[in-house]
Order: sequence, then C-alpha cells, then structure tokens
Amino acid sequence: MVRLDKFLAEMGVGTRSEVKKILKAKQVTVNGDTATKPETKIDTDNDVVCYRGSRISYQKYEYYMFNKPAGCVSATEDNLHRTVMDYITDAVHDDLFPVGRLDIDTEGLLLITNDGALAHELLSPAKHVEKTYYARIDGMVTEDDVNQFENGVDIGEDKLTKPGKLVILKSEPISEIELTITEGRFHQVKRMFEAVGKKVIYLKRISMGPLKLPQDLAIGEYRALTQAELGGLKQRV
Ligand code: URA
Repeated sequence: MVRLDKFLAEMGVGTRSEVKKILKAKQVTVNGDTATKPETKIDTDNDVVCYRGSRISYQKYEYYMFNKPAGCVSATEDNLHRTVMDYITDAVHDDLFPVGRLDIDTEGLLLITNDGALAHELLSPAKHVEKTYYARIDGMVTEDDVNQFENGVDIGEDKLTKPGKLVILKSEPISEIELTITEGRFHQVKRMFEAVGKKVIYLKRISMGPLKLPQDLAIGEYRALTQAELGGLKQRV
C-alpha cells in the first residue's frame, strides 16, 4: 500500500506539491470515485487510479541497461567523480543503483535498477552469472594464457580464480581478447592478466548473463530493458 500522493508523484504525474493541487482540483479517481486526499492508501496491485481519465499503472521497479563511459564511478554518490547515476536522467524512482561495479576506467554494460532482490541474485557468487569482457592487452596473448585461465590463476588471494574462458581475437604486441568469468572479484580481469605478466589497457563489459550490450547503445546512453531481456535475466537467477 502506498499513499496516493506518493503513487502519483512516483509515476511522474507531478511533484508532491503539484499532486496536492491536482487532487484538490478533483482530477484523480480511485476505482471510479474522485479522490482528493493525498493520504489515501492505494493497493498498487488492485486499485485503479486515473488522472484526467487515463489509468496510471504503478511500476515498482525500473530496469535500465547503461553503456558506462570511462571516468565515472559505479556508485550512487561520490565526492570526487561523476557517478553512473548522473547519466540516468529520467528515472521515475529515486532509489536506483548500479548492479555491481565496473572500474572507473572500464566501459560497457551495467544494469541499473531499484530491484534489490534481482540485483542480489545476479551478484551472488553461488549463481555463477557469466560476465564477458572485451579487452586490449599490452602483450602477446597466447594459447598458454588460454590454458592458464582455463585452470584458474593466482591473483594473490586464498583461492585461484574460477576457470575463465579466454578467446584470442588478435595475438599481437597489442592483443585483443574476450574473457568470460563467473566471479566478480575486485579488478578481476586486470589482475588475471597481471598474473600472466600482461597489462589490460582497455576494458569493456559486453555481456552479463543473457544480457548483451547492444551495438547501437552509444557510450553514456541507457535504455529500459525489454520485457524479453528482463524475463531472460529473471530466468537466469
Ligand atoms: N575486471 C576488472 O579488472 N575491472 C572491471 O571493471 C571489471 C572486471
């Protein structure tokens, strides 16, 4: 149950004070009856709320995919840097957050939502959600690295990393690769390459579980997940 004024403000009908005026002006009905009291309690699953005759359905959760640029941090607030949330300008709710972290210099796919339960599942180590990264590497990446990653590498923690699937796109002094991992340890991709004596010079996440970064989503842009994308994510966890 939510208050009518909160319901209307969250669904973008107006600010809390605009909503009060709208209610006073008798422009809102609840189950067919004019509602003027801001504190009226709404059952978001069953009550039919209309503003000027049009139904306003309640959307509790929002889900966006964001193509993160370098230079912003994966946080909701930061004293020093732009955050990923500064790019999400037309969300309805004010409690959205990024699902997991990409480093400040990493680009690519980041899910932004206010669905804490889904986020928790996606980040749970027990779920082994696959994350694929495209990277440029200073150094010649070889089949030996592929094998080492497959067996797990020592990044200076108690346990080796879980197996990573390394695909070499270009084996040259500056190599290009795709790496799929199922964990999310701090700076994991960079540290895996350090473990084999190489340095990541560009890193971009291109997928997370069934979610793929679309080619046409420019850096710094975001869009709502489609129903199919959201369904795929929920099915995965
Ligand atoms: N691995 C890293 O090293 N950095 C990221 O941002 C993500 C994975």
